[in-house]
Amino acid sequence: MKRLFKWGAVVLLVAAAAMVVVYRAVNQAPSADLPQNERVYEILVEGGCLSCHSADPELPFYAKLPVAGKVVMKDVDSGYRAYDITKFMEAVKVDGEVNAVDLAKVEKVVLDDRMPMPKYYLVHWGSSLTSQKRDIVLDWIKAKRAALYADGLPEHRANEPVRPIDAYVEYDEAKAALGFQLFHDTRLSVDNTVSCATCHALETAGVDNHRYSDGVGGQVGGVNAPTVYNAVYNFVQFWDGRAATLADQAAGPPLNPIEMASPSFDHIVAKLQADKQFAKAFTAVYPDGLTQANITDAIEHFERTLITPDSRFDKWLRGDDSAITAEELEGYELFKKYDCATCHAGKNLGGLSYELMGLRRHYFADRGLELTVEDNGRFKETQQERDRHRFKVPGLRNIEHTWPYYHDGTRETLDAAVRDMALYQSGVELTDEEVHKIEAFLLTLTGEYKGQLLTNSNSRDLIDGH
Ligand code: HEC
Ligand code: HEC
Ligand code: HEC
Repeated sequence: MKRLFKWGAVVLLVAAAAMVVVYRAVNQAPSADLPQNERVYEILVEGGCLSCHSADPELPFYAKLPVAGKVVMKDVDSGYRAYDITKFMEAVKVDGEVNAVDLAKVEKVVLDDRMPMPKYYLVHWGSSLTSQKRDIVLDWIKAKRAALYADGLPEHRANEPVRPIDAYVEYDEAKAALGFQLFHDTRLSVDNTVSCATCHALETAGVDNHRYSDGVGGQVGGVNAPTVYNAVYNFVQFWDGRAATLADQAAGPPLNPIEMASPSFDHIVAKLQADKQFAKAFTAVYPDGLTQANITDAIEHFERTLITPDSRFDKWLRGDDSAITAEELEGYELFKKYDCATCHAGKNLGGLSYELMGLRRHYFADRGLELTVEDNGRFKETQQERDRHRFKVPGLRNIEHTWPYYHDGTRETLDAAVRDMALYQSGVELTDEEVHKIEAFLLTLTGEYKGQLLTNSNSRDLIDGH
């Protein structure tokens, strides 16, 4: 009996050793002869990333088994719900252009050792990310990020997911000057009472600080107005992304029945044409005169000037350690630790992807208000179920001035917005101290417009019911 036990132990040991050898052999990093992007691609494919993060995954055979299958499908569903990796994988494959949000997201799960999920690599030998594989992926991400921005940050800040904004975005001065006038021109509205600036005044940080905006005839909209400052950095415009460019966007409000309610652009053009002086100045810059395309183009050129560089945080990114305090820096570290910087990445800390509101907890169920059309977010445009409650991520620059927060304007203070983001998006309950530090960091993002620190002349009392 004793002998049998001894032999049993030996066999087990040998078997375990053999498994380790086989496992090591299977789990080798791709050959160093391959180009770096191909090595990364191979690692991610082996890691099963596409199995759980694409619309049409190739599933393993056991996905069809009754019990195991259920577990697999649950991971596949929630993986795809959280993140669609298809575009990124296509870019990796051809070493093409990548999105800063993808870089930040994949980098974060690799740094945290969160993906692939242990369940997966215990079944799929060779899929776990060894430290060698991790280094290959992280080095590639770093190189892609450097190439994406080329903003000359000092070496020790060169791989930050948040980037400084430019001192200058290209625009045409004469067109921007016309755009400035049009932005403030109430003739764009049916009854000459409302201009773009009514809801996006420059001296109130480009917002109206109402939960919902007041349009013509005292009508009220159904979604919170984002700021026009730094909107040029958004990959699309509006919460649901229905406008591809700033010019496309500018064609919306004039004809929106609640906002400016003009019957047509012809109607607007006729009014402006009647103003001989304005029409002449306009035609001097746009030889084919007042048209919808030219009007919205001029507004876009003006909006390209609405950038707010030189925030304290940008100075820190560029290497000035004294630009922010130790507490503000701790806030930034927490902002990265709790995944905030994976959705709020890049120059505008957002505006680069659509993300689910309520990723880790049911936001809309907890909110307790009736669902509105606007709550559907991107779904309104695509009618794809996956896009329901997905919104273009708002940028966070000058955030201290742009209350109330969220598409539904339900968070009146920044600390409430931060606390709830952590809960609903990152799945963590922050301590008061953590909320305070992240808020302190966010306050360092206020920049300068034309050399003056951005302020807001509205009083905090403005928050209203609608
Ligand atoms: C077995 C399925 C599975 C595999 C394989 C897998 N993931 Fe995931 N992934 C998930 C699930 C489930 C979530 C959602 C986790 C949550 O909500 O807590 C997720 C979330 C993510 C997120 C979003 C951030 C987050 O934490 O929610 C990223 C990015 C991600 N995965 C990347 C990857 C990469 C890169 C790979 C390949 C190395 C990979 N995943 C492999 C299931 C998987
Ligand atoms: C009655 C108030 C009101 C008026 C007038 C108005 N807007 Fe807006 N603006 C909003 C609201 C509300 C939204 C968000 C709507 C949405 O996402 O569906 C918005 C969105 C925007 C955005 C998108 C920002 C982002 O982050 O997605 C830009 C840019 C913008 N407006 C510029 C303008 C311009 C230019 C004009 C004049 C032609 C104008 N707005 C007129 C209320 C207004
Ligand atoms: C999964 C992506 C994701 C993560 C992670 C995330 N956010 Fe957000 N954030 C969003 C989206 C989407 C919105 C818009 C939600 C809405 O309007 O309903 C938003 C809105 C905000 C707003 C309000 C902005 C405004 O103008 O209304 C703040 C502030 C904010 N996030 C901060 C944070 C902080 C701090 C963290 C980390 C604790 C974080 N976010 C994590 C996607 C994310």
